[in-house]
Amino acid sequence: MAYDLIVSDTVLMQLNIFKDYAALSHNTAEKVVHQVQEKANSVLCLAAGNTPTLTYQYIVEIARQKQVDFSQVQFVGLDEWVHIPPDNPGSCQYFLRHHLFTPLQIAESQIHLFDALAEDLASACEQMNALIRQQGGLDLILVGVGMNGHIGFNEPGVSPDLYAHVVDLDETTQVVGQKYFSQSTPLKKGITLGMRHVLEARSALMIASGAKKAEIMRKVLVEDISVQVPASLLRKHDNGFALLDEEAASLLTLKAKSQY
Ligand code: F6R
Repeated sequence: MAYDLIVSDTVLMQLNIFKDYAALSHNTAEKVVHQVQEKANSVLCLAAGNTPTLTYQYIVEIARQKQVDFSQVQFVGLDEWVHIPPDNPGSCQYFLRHHLFTPLQIAESQIHLFDALAEDLASACEQMNALIRQQGGLDLILVGVGMNGHIGFNEPGVSPDLYAHVVDLDETTQVVGQKYFSQSTPLKKGITLGMRHVLEARSALMIASGAKKAEIMRKVLVEDISVQVPASLLRKHDNGFALLDEEAASLLTLKAKSQY
């Protein structure tokens, strides 16, 4: 079902709510594949994390079924845990390679990820900013939402004017992030695209699934836009979509718009 999110009679953002995680993931995958069908050399930035795992499985399936050519797509990394090597299964890089790049047979020349082991992380950020500029900006960014409302590693209090930057991770991110690792791992710093990249992307998909995300999604979508809940800044995006399953949307007040 497609909804307008109404707060004080104002429509805030395009919002789609799906029955369950599978439906959310399939629709999100279709949107990403559609972007590539429309523009073969799209520049995509796709998050790691649990939420998009099934989306990536569906992207691989749909791309195979429809024989969609991903050979000209450029993939840009959203974020990475500083000092975590790419062969660590908890790293964002490992996740993206495992779930997406390897099954889609993406060439190394198409993959542009943060080097979280770089001695000069500031220069790694500048290189990423330059690369995105050279590519003409991001066509589509797909983000999940952290339990503290972060996007990428844009943590509460972040400036919306930042491009790529290195950040001291929020306490919540350090604790919640342990779920990606098989043993306790210090997660002090992150390297991330900035909110400015997110807001300048030509389209933005924000996905959330499950009851545990219901309260933060209420804050993201219903409460005042605030840098304390960075994902709420996405409501300023001209072409931004919030895609939620029913559980994640369970605390929103909605007015139905149309059947999807
Ligand atoms: C990961 C990322 C993070 C996650 C967020 C939600 O690349 O950028 O912002 O999207 O922490 O994580 P999950 O999906 O595991 O709940």
